[in-house]
Amino acid sequence: MKESITLTDNRTGASVEIPIVDGTVDSGEWASLLPGVYFHDPSFGVTSGAASAVCELDGEAGYLRYRGHPIEQLAERVSFLEIAHLLLFAELPTRPQLDAFAGEIAESASIHENFHKRILEGFRDDAHAMGVLVSSVAALSTFYPESKDVEDPTVRRSQMIRLIAKMPTLAASAYRRLVGTPYVQPDPDLDYTTNFLTMMFRPLEGGFEVDPVLSRALDLLFLLHADHSQNCSTTTARTVGSSHADPYVSLSAACGALYGPRHGGANEAVLRMLQEIGTYDQVDDFVAKVKTGERRLMGFGHRVYKNYDPRAQILKDTAHRVFDVVGKNPLLDMALKLEEVALADDYFVRRKLYPNVDFYSGLIYQSMGFPVEMFTVLFAIGRTPGWLAHWDEMLTQNSRIARPRQLYIGEATRDVVPIDQR
Ligand code: CMC
Repeated sequence: MKESITLTDNRTGASVEIPIVDGTVDSGEWASLLPGVYFHDPSFGVTSGAASAVCELDGEAGYLRYRGHPIEQLAERVSFLEIAHLLLFAELPTRPQLDAFAGEIAESASIHENFHKRILEGFRDDAHAMGVLVSSVAALSTFYPESKDVEDPTVRRSQMIRLIAKMPTLAASAYRRLVGTPYVQPDPDLDYTTNFLTMMFRPLEGGFEVDPVLSRALDLLFLLHADHSQNCSTTTARTVGSSHADPYVSLSAACGALYGPRHGGANEAVLRMLQEIGTYDQVDDFVAKVKTGERRLMGFGHRVYKNYDPRAQILKDTAHRVFDVVGKNPLLDMALKLEEVALADDYFVRRKLYPNVDFYSGLIYQSMGFPVEMFTVLFAIGRTPGWLAHWDEMLTQNSRIARPRQLYIGEATRDVVPIDQR
């Protein structure tokens, strides 16, 4: 079988044979035959926008690998910081490399006092934590003007460390201001996730110990969210970064993309949906509304997965471990019933709609004491190494600025009528 396609321009009879390499065809060959004729693919459903070595997923087979390592093995054997190292530097760290990396991260975790006073304190009292995060990450750009030198790999490395280090501090600060309690400084003696939980929940007075089961569960959640190829927010980070904007504004834009309920905002939307359904016996009615298009089943469906999202399976198991410590989330039974009803229903089966990573994550976050407004912020902490790995990869590839074409559907040329004659 020949691994190629032949395109013929019926206007001229000219044709070109384009090889199919790794499931893609080169747009340059297309352009050489058809200058001025473009693919119209607004949601990039059949467009590959990047050549990337960071993460591979196959939606039909239902697998996910970070730099070749299956997610199931990573979930069992490594920590989030090891994943961050893997995504950024292409290999899992040795013990000394991990210690050095964790040390660098811990050293960069604090944020400037002025940041708390002048920026975080400036938001409305009830500001959503995700809105605060989007703005705070962008504001970091003004604290690190040297980050604009995006072509220097050493500068890039420092900013990547800073961003991974400061995300939990910003997130915990966003929470603390929401609930009106004083900020807690990072503790370099604690591991990454335990430090975050401590900055979140340490009371003003008295001792505070994070349960290691909960710390490991959250670390696992971060790890499962760390990368997912060219999703909406990662594509945003790459697109903004392709203009050579600094990493802080590139990641702020990615956080903005993540905030939407079709993407990372889905974890919050799932929880609100379960609360709205209210009782177990209302599940069938809700599913009926989804089938008529009146409602959407949040936490279900995916552009790429047409099979069970492997992350959702791992999360389902993690949920039980967390519930053993903190007690079962009362919404769990409803979620399980919703899943069971949907997976047996022809509407969902025909469209290959399965639970995605957001279906169970919210239940775990809620049981651990996070308010719903923090759920997408937690996703953002986890996704930060992935965004950075793609941003850095894009810059090392000397890529061109992202600039799609458009299909113009507006008016043809027309004269401007002076204002008093309109
Ligand atoms: N509930 C009900 N119907 C759905 C759902 C859903 N959650 N998702 C897709 N469909 C239907 C959709 O209406 C369409 O039906 P029809 O063929 O009759 O028009 C069909 O399934 C195909 O869906 P699509 O809209 O073409 O799918 P997409 O690839 O454009 O959208 C999605 C993917 C994730 C935005 C969508 O499935 C969705 O909105 N899901 C709920 C939100 C959610 O859970 N998002 C988290 C995604 S995973 C984490 C992440 O990466 O952020």
